Amino acid sequence: MSYKSINTEQGHWVLAKMGKRVLRPGGKELTMKLVNGLQITKEDEIVEFAPGMGFTANLLLQKYPKNYTGVELNEEAAQLLQAKINSTHYKVLNASASETGLATSSVTKVIGEAMLTMQPDHRKSEIMREAYRILKPGGCYGIHELGLAPDNLDFEIKKEIQQGLAKSIKVNARPLTKTEWCTLLEKEGFKIKLVEENAMDLLKVKRIIADEGILRTLKIGLNVLTHPEEKKKIFKMRETFKKYENHLISYAIVAEK
Ligand SMILES: C[S@@+](CC[C@H](N)C(=O)[O-])C[C@H]1O[C@@H](n2cnc3c(N)ncnc32)[C@H](O)[C@@H]1O
Repeated sequence: MSYKSINTEQGHWVLAKMGKRVLRPGGKELTMKLVNGLQITKEDEIVEFAPGMGFTANLLLQKYPKNYTGVELNEEAAQLLQAKINSTHYKVLNASASETGLATSSVTKVIGEAMLTMQPDHRKSEIMREAYRILKPGGCYGIHELGLAPDNLDFEIKKEIQQGLAKSIKVNARPLTKTEWCTLLEKEGFKIKLVEENAMDLLKVKRIIADEGILRTLKIGLNVLTHPEEKKKIFKMRETFKKYENHLISYAIVAEK
């Protein structure tokens, strides 16, 4: 997989190409709860893992933090966002969240959405460890990821959901239950402060309107109708989300170093 240009096979980039800006499972509603839970002030030095199209970056910058650093693996996405937020205190690095190159104990808040789910578990832990390393003691790490429910979900169903997601969104998505997400964070030394959840309605019309507004929703709809290849991919994704909707959910967690 190339990390240079945007890979239009992957579900999130297919949606982005159609004009979708909110690419996280719990939508803007859960993002707002996460950002509120992080209690961002003008004193904060923030790192955002995988800012993607910059939707959350925009929300964070409206709080005028002291510093903002986006760490985005995809070179094209990093450059696009850097061009949007050109400022001395706000920058975007083209690097992996598992190895940011940032100084130890140097920031007060780290946030990352819809980026751990797509990593195998050992890589999820590496990224959490990196968040822990760069945070100052007392600093907080906020995540917003795809979840599975209930906590005791049968192993075979989990496997089937993962395979279904891999086929339709072309990313090896590995969502976890609430306890599994919390346990992974705790293993890296974090203390769980807040857990919020929302339905996984990424491709439901009501959620798209709530996330994108009416005008953009119409524009996305028109784009989908006039792009048959993308339409096929998006309908396939929607079918998979619908099939497993009783077990798919989204979690936002704030954890403290
Ligand atoms: C589903 S999109 C989510 C983007 C954004 N956080 C959002 O919620 O709208 C996944 C993003 O994660 C980025 N990504 C994946 N692995 C990464 C890593 N190890 N380090 C930094 N970014 C990564 C991808 O390039 C992409 O921009």
